[in-house]
Amino acid sequence: MEFVLKHNTAEKARCACQIIFVTQTRKLSASGQRVDKANKGMLSAILKRGDMEGKSGQTLMLPSTGISGVQRILLVGCGKVDEMNERVFARIINSIATALAASGARDAEIYPADIPLKGRDLAWKVRHTVLLLSNGEYRFDSMKSGKQEARKGLRKLAVNVDKKEASAASMAISEGSAISAGMNLTRDLGNLPANVCTPTYLARQARDLASGNRRLRVNVLGEAEMKKLKMGSLLSVSAGSRQPAKLITIEYRGAAAAAQPVVLVGKGVTFDTGGISLKPGQAMDEMKFDMCGAASVFGTLKAVAQMELPINVVGIVPATENMPDGNATKPGDIVTSMSGQTIEILNTDAEGRLILCDALTYAAKFKPSCVIDIATLTGAVIVALGKVPSGVMGNNPALIRDLTKSGQQIDDRIWELPLWDDYQDQIKSNFADMANIGGRDAGTITAACFLSRFTKDYKWAHLDIAGTAWKSGDDKGATGRPVPLLTQFILNQVKQAG
Ligand code: BES
Ligand code: MN
Ligand code: ZN
Repeated sequence: MEFVLKHNTAEKARCACQIIFVTQTRKLSASGQRVDKANKGMLSAILKRGDMEGKSGQTLMLPSTGISGVQRILLVGCGKVDEMNERVFARIINSIATALAASGARDAEIYPADIPLKGRDLAWKVRHTVLLLSNGEYRFDSMKSGKQEARKGLRKLAVNVDKKEASAASMAISEGSAISAGMNLTRDLGNLPANVCTPTYLARQARDLASGNRRLRVNVLGEAEMKKLKMGSLLSVSAGSRQPAKLITIEYRGAAAAAQPVVLVGKGVTFDTGGISLKPGQAMDEMKFDMCGAASVFGTLKAVAQMELPINVVGIVPATENMPDGNATKPGDIVTSMSGQTIEILNTDAEGRLILCDALTYAAKFKPSCVIDIATLTGAVIVALGKVPSGVMGNNPALIRDLTKSGQQIDDRIWELPLWDDYQDQIKSNFADMANIGGRDAGTITAACFLSRFTKDYKWAHLDIAGTAWKSGDDKGATGRPVPLLTQFILNQVKQAG
């Protein structure tokens, strides 16, 4: 979808569909009142007749207007002003997309300043309109045979704002477009089945992302090179797989070589059977999404590169399958990580931390300003927080605060769990430096405890996205989270530095 800026007053619009907001009960927005006045009370007469209450998400399409230059008017309910919030805002924008898809209109004009959402500025409303409409338009049909029906719905949206807001709104459109381009890539990679999206495929995608962009550089290590680096923990996960593991590094250079990069480390388990500690069959197909952390690293780099941000960012993706096999790691096996610390693998299904720990040790060589790992790490995070926020833990309160704030800003929220030393006892091993599981209690925290032992040399935060990276059920599919959060965090870093 294309987004363009406009500054004309509402009564001078020329478009296939003009979007006019109505709050409860039957109150026209400022733009609506202008249009109404210029057209002899046409809209207020319709409201008076009772055809439109203005409940949130309610729409009424007026298929002919008698107004020259405006083919249709879409009245859109915002609900009660004091009940308006980010959730209602999303409902409103989605209802606009639905109403327009059912009409013949291919372009429309919207007045975002008219949406009475307190505490969010115009740029936020514009950015979210772009994000919600672009996300709503996403389809994954590359694996379906036959011709797909030509897509109906909106092609071009004119975002009408006051002239003095033009530069903020234009920035919001480019940020929204970049984030949604990143999310689309993340969703595509997540949705692809594991027989297509293998570690080798991810490495290929990294090269494709970087090709033709002088600011992006890719490096892929194979198993022999990982062995040289003594990544015994990562390799213990790929041992049972016929697909070779890859360690993919994507470097984005937008700032001076000496500027310390933000390093993003994404879990790239392209399929998680559990290994010898085999998972039950129920919904196991969803373990193709176990590389969504990796996919969010790709998506964030895509967004950052599209915006050409003046910052350095490094993405590191340990990519492997987790399979049972004659060569697979067995419960009780002890491996030595790149850090030198030994690990007793009591459960081969706790494999995410085993690949992340070596990638996190490797990350130190980039002299990071901070390291954020992103992983579909534990089912326990869904028990703790549901599917609303991602979980966050780390070793630096300021970093967690910045991430939490970024999540609130872009409405891709995270919530901190306590990474207290008290929990470290749970991963004691009788035979090695640590065990890879910590028992039933606080599974999300003990997973982070494990990672904390490999991240002592830099500022680090861990995002557990097991509840937020994809949806199950009828809407099964990757969400593109937490690309908005990560991109917003990087945007804020750029602002802080400049
Ligand atoms: N990829 C899973 C985590 C997961 C499970 C995400 C279900 C979303 C839904 C991870 O590798 C895993 O299997 N974790 C185990 C850890 C346990 C063995 C300590 C889990 O959460 O059950
Ligand atoms: Mn697992
Ligand atoms: Zn996993």
